[in-house]
Amino acid sequence: MPALRLGSIAPDFEAETTQGPIKFHDWIGSSWAVLFSHPADFTPVCTTELGEVARKKPEFEKRGVKVIGLSANALDSHDKWIKDIDDFGTKTSGSTHVDFPIIADPERKVATLYDMLDAVDPTNVDSKGIPFTVRTVFVIDPKKIIRLTLSYPAQTGRDFDEILRVIDSLQAGDKYRITTPVNWHKGDDVIVHPGVSNEEAKTLFPGFKTVLPYLRLTEDPSVKA
Ligand code: BEZ
Repeated sequence: MPALRLGSIAPDFEAETTQGPIKFHDWIGSSWAVLFSHPADFTPVCTTELGEVARKKPEFEKRGVKVIGLSANALDSHDKWIKDIDDFGTKTSGSTHVDFPIIADPERKVATLYDMLDAVDPTNVDSKGIPFTVRTVFVIDPKKIIRLTLSYPAQTGRDFDEILRVIDSLQAGDKYRITTPVNWHKGDDVIVHPGVSNEEAKTLFPGFKTVLPYLRLTEDPSVKA
């Protein structure tokens, strides 16, 4: 199977999750989705990450995004681990309740489909020597198109604010003919898409500023009333 790239259709699959069996495309429905993988249950970095996603779930929901985790263990293990995540998160970072599904993938079926397995790190393997998943993220739009992929090493926890930031950029770019500059956050000035002529820009973005002939800035249209 060819590598998954930005613009590929996210492969559909059926899986058991902590919230019951799913068919992935049906589960996404007309929402956006974030599918993110973890090396294994009861591991420290993963525990902090899942707690953070649980606390940030309202931020994902505000953007019409469903979140779903994957860890290369079985359901009964996930169910026990969730109790630890809630407990640790609540003790250290405020009320934490994992109420999104985590896919059980002990045989690495989904992990193989999404090329989430570690090919390099000899320490990121289970007791049988089978590679664990690395920390991947797939942002998938309502047409089931992959819009962002990330792969982080097992040792490094991800920054979920960055995932939200990219979703803001993608959703603004889908709605308006704009792109977003370095370090952009919702509300900062955006770039008029290079495909928009100056004539069109006068109508679409009155008051836009030409900083360089190919770099025109305008207020973020996604925050206007
Ligand atoms: C962790 O989540 O802490 C972790 C998992 C696998 C390898 C290294 C760290």
